[in-house]
Amino acid sequence: MLAESVDIPDPLPATMAKTVHPLERRIEPVLDDLPETAPTGDALSVPVSAPANAGSLRSLLAEVALERQAEARAQNAEALRRSIPNGPAAVTPARVIAVVSPKGGVGKSTLCAALAGALGAKGRRLAIDLDPQNALQYHLGVSPDVAGMASASLTGECWNGLLLNGLGATRVLPFGLVCGQERRALERFLEDDAHWLARQLARMDLTADDVVILDTPPGRTLYLEQVLDVADQVIVVITPDAASFMTLDPIDRLLEGPANQAWQRDCHYVVNQFDASRTFCQDMLEVFKRRFGKQLIGVLPLDHAISEGLAFGVNPLLEDEHSSARQEVLAIADALKSPVRTSALAGSRAS
Ligand SMILES: Nc1ncnc2c1ncn2[C@@H]1O[C@H](COP(=O)(O)OP(=O)(O)OP(=O)(O)O)[C@@H](O)[C@H]1O
Ligand SMILES: [Mg+2]
Repeated sequence: MLAESVDIPDPLPATMAKTVHPLERRIEPVLDDLPETAPTGDALSVPVSAPANAGSLRSLLAEVALERQAEARAQNAEALRRSIPNGPAAVTPARVIAVVSPKGGVGKSTLCAALAGALGAKGRRLAIDLDPQNALQYHLGVSPDVAGMASASLTGECWNGLLLNGLGATRVLPFGLVCGQERRALERFLEDDAHWLARQLARMDLTADDVVILDTPPGRTLYLEQVLDVADQVIVVITPDAASFMTLDPIDRLLEGPANQAWQRDCHYVVNQFDASRTFCQDMLEVFKRRFGKQLIGVLPLDHAISEGLAFGVNPLLEDEHSSARQEVLAIADALKSPVRTSALAGSRAS
């Protein structure tokens, strides 16, 4: 946890190097408490020899509070520095798969959890939640009260100690619950270091037998940028409707990045919530097939047992061998073994 709720200055090293004496600072916290006769202005300074009355006590307490805040800020900056090692980014030997989408609610977390349980791997199968919504854990039946990735990252803790047992023999790292200030502090890590996630994964000493699947928030976010930096394969989830069709151009922008990244040649699409009883759904699927070609590796049916199961900590995609959606997940896991080896954007531009 952070030492105290304070904003971490940006950029940290430069700001931390400058120590401002409390007497030079504005004392805003006591403005409201001062007697009406107190001087006002744009910068209220504490008098050096204030008279020994209630007003001066408030000023002295304000000084103490400012010093305490500065100390907490220094501790937070130190934690931040500890967890961002310098030097080139290490690369994990584990296979890393990212599940992304420009649009929310299409089934990223659902697919991420299901694939974590279905992927063939000799080693561990890790599902890591990089979405502050912190929902992946529910899909994998993990207790919601656990410490997560976000707060541990702020203190420089290695993620290995935080992994939990999830459904389908998965190992799960929830995003965790953090306050707004902690989240902003975490996002500064991501902003300051383009390889932050790569370093975190490298510290876990994973092997080439391990597979990591990453859940992301919708759209182009700092989390997505980190994920695209480290992924070997990317899966874009879309739904068979006009709203998803309208995100196809945003998908191109979503996946913009250096062409030398592995996933640029190994980018797949999955249509989720497909309702075969509706002609419109079938036609939308045809449109997507024409657009994505071989990059479209799966069509998950709309199955209310999936959404209802969430309410009861049950996941048919992981536990029900008779579910047709489960069979489709296994087929998607299988398809991921054979890279498509095409440009990530080739399909979407082929229309
Ligand atoms: N194939 C499906 N059939 C029925 N319900 C589904 C299916 N896939 C997902 N759902 C339900 O749709 C809802 C949204 O799914 P999910 O949370 O996985 O989407 P998401 O893309 O991760 O959302 P967000 O963008 O908010 O992270 C959930 O209630 C989930 O149970
Ligand atoms: Mg999600």
